[in-house]
Amino acid sequence: MRFLDALNGSNRDVPPVWLMRQAGRYLPEYQALRSRYSLRELFFTPKLAAQVTLQPIARFGFDAAILFSDITAIAPAMGFSLQFDEGPKVWPLATPDNWRSLKQDLGALDPIAEAAFLAKTQLDVPLIGFCGGPFTIATYFTEKTWRGDDFAAFLDWIADMCILSLQRQIEAGVDAVQVFDSWANLLSDEEFEKYSLKPLKKIVDSVNKPVILFMRGSAKRAKLLAALKPAAISIDWEKPLLEVRQQVKCPLQGNLNPDLLFAPIEEIRSEARLLLDSMKGDPAFIVNLGHGVKPNTPLEAVEALIAEVRKKTRT
Ligand code: CP3
Repeated sequence: MRFLDALNGSNRDVPPVWLMRQAGRYLPEYQALRSRYSLRELFFTPKLAAQVTLQPIARFGFDAAILFSDITAIAPAMGFSLQFDEGPKVWPLATPDNWRSLKQDLGALDPIAEAAFLAKTQLDVPLIGFCGGPFTIATYFTEKTWRGDDFAAFLDWIADMCILSLQRQIEAGVDAVQVFDSWANLLSDEEFEKYSLKPLKKIVDSVNKPVILFMRGSAKRAKLLAALKPAAISIDWEKPLLEVRQQVKCPLQGNLNPDLLFAPIEEIRSEARLLLDSMKGDPAFIVNLGHGVKPNTPLEAVEALIAEVRKKTRT
């Protein structure tokens, strides 16, 4: 399996490819389900979530599937109510005064685990589970994040809940997990240490499957992330991937600009080729974007990217 081999640093085949947000709005088959069901129904009905998970694999043949869920799907297990309008909405929003009285409800993780189980039984490629980074989850669960020891304690509790969610996904069969600390780039270096790295370290150290770390700003902070010893780091497009590779040894995932998929097909091929050639022979490289697939991404663009990756070039 190319994906798991690359996470192990031992891939000798063409690099594996999957895309963050590969299950979602750019797919007509997703839109079709979405016109019949609410987002809440899609996320919390195991059969539907499993079905959406499989859609991009059936269409494109990616090397890994990612569970269809959301980083905010953990909210009900933490005692919040959750609704999706334009985006996820949680209430009551957490404050320094109320968060300790939230009543956790671990049963609310059941539909997520069940979706992973159903998807896994129907897949012939590895399944990736996920959670948000505690700081990023906090940005959605608070009106305004606060600072200090009490905020660090709040993040520590979120990390514990993330670990419980990941453990349930792992029992259900996921082969690896990715932690999306998308908003960690908002933190200064000092805050980053305390509010992003520390809770991420707790998660990496507690989970017994490969953990991939993602955030905006990961190219710049790759060395700090590598120090947590994750299985891999997902890199944005702020630096060429080869430059990051020269600084860190661990498996790397990335790092095409999601906007590239709106370019002419020839440009997609040539930009992909530049990345592939720069990482040629690297046994620990996974092709991905530097952030999620955008909603109106053309299907032909995704096909062209995958075809370029799979092309055996002369050595
Ligand atoms: O990658 C995948 O294909 C798996 C599914 C997945 C979703 N969200 C489904 C989703 C994953 C991995 C996520 C992660 C997620 N969710 C992140 C981290 C990654 C990132 O993009 O930075 C964040 C910050 C969220 C929170 C979130 N969920 C927002 C802000 C929104 C609304 C804005 C938006 O992008 O639509 C969502 C909704 C959401 N989550 C959708 C999907 C497919 C949109 C669904 C729809 O409108 O039909």
